[in-house]
Amino acid sequence: MVIGLWGGDREVLRGLFRDADDSAAEVDRYLTSGEVFVAEDNGLVVGHLQVVDADGAVELKSMAVLAERRGTGVGRALVEAAVEHCRRGGVSRMVVATATADVGNLRFYQRLGFRMLRVERDAFTAASGYPDGIVIDGVPLRDRIWLDRELVVDAS
Ligand SMILES: CC(C)(COP(=O)(O)OP(=O)(O)OC[C@H]1O[C@@H](n2cnc3c(N)ncnc32)[C@H](O)[C@@H]1OP(=O)(O)O)[C@@H](O)C(=O)NCCC(=O)NCCS
Repeated sequence: MVIGLWGGDREVLRGLFRDADDSAAEVDRYLTSGEVFVAEDNGLVVGHLQVVDADGAVELKSMAVLAERRGTGVGRALVEAAVEHCRRGGVSRMVVATATADVGNLRFYQRLGFRMLRVERDAFTAASGYPDGIVIDGVPLRDRIWLDRELVVDAS
C-alpha cells in the first residue's frame, strides 16, 4: 500500500467522500477544498483523507476506507501520513468532527490520539442536507462532536 497526495480529479473520490458524509450538499461544498491523501493498493484507491486549513490548525475534513478494507490499518496509516505532512509544514494542531452517534468513529479517533473538545447539538439537520431518520447503531444522528490532536513533537 502506498500513501500519497492526490493530484487527480476529485470526482473520482466522490464515492469515498459520500461514505464519510450523509449530506450530498455538504460534500459538494468541500469536495475540491484543501489537500487529499489517498491510500492505493495495486493502483486501486482504498482510502482517502482530506485536510483543510482551519484558523491556525488543520481540520481533518473527510476520510473513508473501502468497506472491505476497513479494520486493516488503512485509516491509521492515512491519519499518520497526514499528521506527519502537516507537522513538517509547521502545523501544531489537527481538529476533526464526527457524529456523537458513531461510537466506532469515536474509538477510532481516540486510538489515533485525538481528544474530546466540544459538542455541537443538533448539527445534523435537514437544512444542511441530512435526511431525517438517520440512525447509527440505534442512536439518532443529531449532535456533532469535535476532537483535536496536538502535532507538536515534544523534544524533551
Ligand atoms: C473510520 C474509518 C476511516 C477507519 O478506518 P480503518 O482503516 O477501518 O481503521 P484502522 O483499521 O486503521 O483502525 C485503527 C484503530 O481504530 C479502531 N477502529 C476503526 N474503526 C472502528 C470502529 N468502527 N469501531 C471500533 N474501533 C474501530 C481499530 O480497531 C483500530 O484499533 P486498534 O489500534 O485498537 O487495533 C473507516 O471505518 C471508515 O471508512 N468508515 C466509514 C466512513 C466514516 O465514517 N468516516 C469518518 C467520518 S468522520
